[in-house]
Amino acid sequence: MYRINCIGILTSGGDAPGMNAAIRSVTRTAIFNGIQVKAIYRGYKGLITGEIKEFHTEDVSNIIQRGGTILKTARCKEFMTPEGRQVAFETMQREGIDALVVIGGDGTFTGAHIFGQEYNVPIVGVPGTIDNDLWGTDSTIGYDTAMNTIVEAVDKIRDTANSHERLFFVEVMGRDAGFLALNSALASGAEAAIIPERLTKEDQLEELIKNGFRKSKNSSIVIVAESPNTGGAQGLAERMHTEHPEYDVRVTILGHLQRGGSPKAYDRILASRMGVAAIDALLDEQRSIMIGIVNDEIVHVPFSKAIKDDKQVNPDKLGVLQILSI
Ligand code: F6P
Repeated sequence: MYRINCIGILTSGGDAPGMNAAIRSVTRTAIFNGIQVKAIYRGYKGLITGEIKEFHTEDVSNIIQRGGTILKTARCKEFMTPEGRQVAFETMQREGIDALVVIGGDGTFTGAHIFGQEYNVPIVGVPGTIDNDLWGTDSTIGYDTAMNTIVEAVDKIRDTANSHERLFFVEVMGRDAGFLALNSALASGAEAAIIPERLTKEDQLEELIKNGFRKSKNSSIVIVAESPNTGGAQGLAERMHTEHPEYDVRVTILGHLQRGGSPKAYDRILASRMGVAAIDALLDEQRSIMIGIVNDEIVHVPFSKAIKDDKQVNPDKLGVLQILSI
C-alpha cells in the first residue's frame, strides 16, 4: 500500500492533436483528488535535466482546443541507457514525485515499462500518437484528427487530379502501420491503399494495374503508408513512370502537417476520459499499464501487451476499398 501525493506528467515521442486535452484532464483530475502535479518538459529529457514546474488548474486553462503539446516533446536517447534512467529516478526523488503519467506511443511506453520495473515506480500511460498502432485501445489520441486532416488534403488533391486526369500517390504517416493509410483511403474515396502489413510493394502495385484501377476513372488516388515495405509514394511513382509512361503521375507527401492542428471532438473526448482514467488507475494501485478504450469502455492494458506490435489492420477493409473503386 502506497500513497501518491505527487504525480509527474510528461509527453514524449511524436506529438499528437489531443495531447493538451489529456494534460488538462490528468492535471485537473489529480488536483481534484488532492494530488500535486508536476509538469515535466520535453519528455524523459526533462526528467533527466530537471525541467519541471508545478502545475495548478489554471496552467491547463484554454488548451483543450490547441494542437501540439504545451509540455513540449522529445525522443530521448539518454533515457534508453541505465545511467540516464538513474538520473531520472534521482530527479523524481528530489522533486518528491511518487508516480508518473506518460502520454505518448510505443517508444514512450517501452521506456516507461523498463523504468517502472527497474525503480519500482508506478507509471500509467495514456496513448497519444497519430499512428493508432497500440494494441488494446480502439483508438489512440490524435488518430482521428490526423485522419480528418488527411481526408481534407486528399479532397483537395482530388480536385486537381481530376482536372488534369492524373494519378496521384499520396504518402501518409504511420511508422510502419497502415491504419491511417487504409482508413483515410476509405474515407476519401481513394482508388487504393498500399500498406506495409500486406504483400510486397511489387505485389500491391502490380495488382492495382492488373485490376485496371484506372479504367473507368479520370483520376486516381493511391494512398501509400510511409514504410520501406511499401516503397513510399516517391518510389512507387518512379516505378509507375518507368513501367507505365502512359500515366501522368504526381506525388504528394503530406508529412508533418498530419500531426498539427486543433484536435477534433472525438480526440478531445478520448483524451478527457483517458486522463481521468489514468489518475483513477494510479489511485487504484495500478502500474505499468496503458489506458485504453474498447467498445466505449475504459480498459487497462499492460505496457508489455500494448507495445507488442500486435494491433492488426482489418484486412476486410481492403476488399471494401477495391469494390468501391470500380
Ligand atoms: O509516431 C508518430 C510519427 O508521426 C510517425 O507516423 C512518423 O513515422 C514519425 O512520427 C515521424 O517522426 P519525426 O517527427 O521524428 O520525424
